[in-house]
Formats: sequence, structure tokens, C-alpha cells
Amino acid sequence: MTLLDIFPSLRSGGVLPRLDPAVWPRETHYDGDGRITVGGVALDDIADQYGTPTYVLDEDEVRNRCRAYRRRFPDAEIIYAGKALLTRAVAEWITEEGLSLDVCSAGELAVALNSWVAPERIVLHGNGKPFAELETAINCGVGRVVVDSFTEITLLSALASRPQRVLLRLTPDIDVHGHPAVRTGVTDQKFGFPVGGDAVLEAVDRIVRQPNLELTGAHCHIGSQIHDTFPYGEAVRRMIAEMARIRDESGVTLTDLDLGGGHAVAYRSGDAELNLSELADIIEDALDAACARHGFPRPAISLEPGRAIVARAGITLYRVLSIKHVENGHTYVTVDGGMSDNPRVALYGAGYEAVVANRHPTGPQMTAHIAGRHCEAGDILARDVRLPVDLRPGEVIAMPCTGAYHHSLASSYNGIGRPPIVAVRDGRCRELVRRETIEDLLSRDIGR
Ligand SMILES: Cc1ncc(COP(=O)(O)O)c(C=O)c1O
Repeated sequence: MTLLDIFPSLRSGGVLPRLDPAVWPRETHYDGDGRITVGGVALDDIADQYGTPTYVLDEDEVRNRCRAYRRRFPDAEIIYAGKALLTRAVAEWITEEGLSLDVCSAGELAVALNSWVAPERIVLHGNGKPFAELETAINCGVGRVVVDSFTEITLLSALASRPQRVLLRLTPDIDVHGHPAVRTGVTDQKFGFPVGGDAVLEAVDRIVRQPNLELTGAHCHIGSQIHDTFPYGEAVRRMIAEMARIRDESGVTLTDLDLGGGHAVAYRSGDAELNLSELADIIEDALDAACARHGFPRPAISLEPGRAIVARAGITLYRVLSIKHVENGHTYVTVDGGMSDNPRVALYGAGYEAVVANRHPTGPQMTAHIAGRHCEAGDILARDVRLPVDLRPGEVIAMPCTGAYHHSLASSYNGIGRPPIVAVRDGRCRELVRRETIEDLLSRDIGR
């Protein structure tokens, strides 16, 4: 082994930018040519083989995140929120790692059932569950349904031919001050029943009067990208207080408490992420205190992380289409994807990092915006990123931390097909989802 093998950056005489493990999968490295490799595969090779844009998914990173949750919460059920990213392979990985699965549509349910997920490990969510979807879910034997309205109670009782376990979705009135689109803990919003209100007791009463419904617990989901653990402690205190009120007023002792997801990840170096050990401690302490205060038996806890399981495992690859230096303005690096494969910037104002993946990014740098190719001025994927000044069309740009709510939120806006998902592990890659082609788009258009 030569010095050049040990320090590949010596080849170009420059220092390679750090690939922060808070943002990139653990197995991310530079190879001898300065190319970025993930799971032992050069991203540049994936771009050549599968085209761009492409979502890359590091299987070991997903599995390691599942294991981290199991380690930190040995007594809790970890229910992966499939809305973050669901493919048959992902469903199988999380199942093998001992997680359950949350789905919120017949489509997600079908993906789950076409993998190895046992129906009883599936939790069905949604503030609006169409009758046909509820029917499918009940008939296939989903383990739990999270009830979100009075109408649903009526439909469920009409559908269930054997005892169906249900949880009641509550809103504990906790404002985590996130983006308005993901503030789901506050009272005046579309999800659940507000704690402390008559509607909760009415819902409990209606459920327990149905012989085929078994009310086992309460559920809440207080928001997304929450990096402070305090709101979770507060959620536990309010939910236990509400469960005690339900016991006192309705005579029903709930045994399960599902605290939802919302655990923050770092999208860029230096972003705060939720600390799982602190979360475990705060939940334990709050449970001890609240259960003692209300003389309430300790419930079984479940958590529903989505983003925190898959976000960091994903990297999106693009090719540069053009570079434009606007006089007295910014430099725009336009790539061959955009808001159709990553709507999070337009939806939430999310920020991302971006690096050149196909060679040493050393030497003089420029500051640029990464622009998508869609017909909207707001289609900017990343702002003020540092890229080599000699960047050329055709080079590969990699954006880390794009595993959650990217593929699942993608569209075919402007007739651009959705990218494939390519999994990497142990130096090999395989396609999990193929690219959406122009033939796919045309096949849905029936014509005149
Ligand atoms: C009910 C429920 N559980 C879990 C999640 C997962 O949230 P996250 O991916 O932020 O962990 C969501 C996200 O919207 C949700 O609505």
C-alpha cells in the first residue's frame, strides 16, 4: 500500500471536503480517484449504469438505524412510518430488523402485503380512510387501526367480522413551532380528537359499545423534524393525564400509548438532530412521573419514526446540464432533476448540501445555487453550495440525506418520470424501483 492509497487526496495536491457522517451514510468514502463511494459502490458508476436523476439507498444504513432504535428503546415497539419511503425491499429490511409498519393508504398496504410484513404488524393511519380502503385493511387482518373520526368508528364496526384492535388519535395541544404543514400536535387541525374535550369521551363510548372493536390505546403525533426532546416528555404527561381521565370518566383503562414519530435528522452539517438516548430518558422519566401522579398503570409504548430511519441512507444523483453566471447575481448550476424528485425545498423551504461525486472536488471553488430543470423560478434544490469553479456539464452532483419524503413525495411534473431507487450494500448495487419512463406516462393517457 502506497501513501497515495492511504491519502488519495495527495494525488491532486488538495484536501478533500469532509463528508460529515451526520449527513452521509456511515459507509461513505472517497476512492483513489476522489470519487464518492457509498456502501462500497462509486456513485459515479451508479449514474453511468442507471442514468440520472437516481435515488441511491444504503441498505446497511437503514438497518443500522433500525438497530439503533431497538437498542435505545428495548421495551418499546418501533413502528416504521412507511410514508417516508416504502418499497417492498424496505418493508422487508425493517421487518427483518424487528420493526412494525405504519401505512396510510391501500397503496402502501399493498406494498407491505407484497413483502414479508405480517398483517398483524401493520398499523393503519389517516384522517380520511375511504370505505374501500378500510374494508381491504380489515379483510387482510391489519393489527391496529388508528381511529380519527366518528364516521370511521361507524364504518369500522360495520366492516369488522372479528375483533379489530383500534387506537384513538388524540391531539395533545403541543406546538413544536415547526413548519405549519407538519404541526400535527396542536388542537385546531384536521387530525384526531383534542385532549380534554367531550369528543374524546364520546369517541371512547362509541368504540366500546361496538362488540367487534377493541380499544387498546391512544395515539399522538406532535409534528416533524423535532430536535428538542422536551415536547415528547410533555406529550407523555398530557397523554397519560388524558388516559387517566378516560379511565375515570368512561371506566376504560387503555394499555397502549403510541407517541408517533417526528424525530429530526440533520440535512446539513451542523443541523440539530434528535438524540435518541435523551429521548429514551425523557420518555421514561415522564412516564414514571405521570403514571405515579395519576395512579395509572404504565402503558406499552410505541414510536413511529419514518424520516429518522431512512433519510440519511438516501443520496440523490444528478448530472449538471448547464452553468450560468448571472451578471451581478448568482451562479446557477442546473441539473437534470428538481422539484419533481425533491419537492421538500418548495414545500418546506428545506436546505440541502451538494457535492461533486465523480472526481476530486479540490482546487478553487465557487458558491452556486443548484437549480432544478422545472418551469418554476422557485425550483432551486440547494442554495449557496461550494462547488469547483471548473465544474462542467455532465459531471455528477450528489445530494445527501434525501432518503425520506423524496421518492414518496415525487411527481412526474413537466412529464419528467420519477427516478429509480438503487440500493447499495457490500460493494454491490441493485435496482429496487425502476425509472418511470415516457411509456409509463403515455400508458395512463387514454387519449380521445
Ligand atoms: C401518524 C404519523 N406517524 C409517524 C410519522 C412519521 O414522521 P417522521 O417521518 O417525521 O418521523 C408521521 C408523519 O407525518 C405521521 O403522520
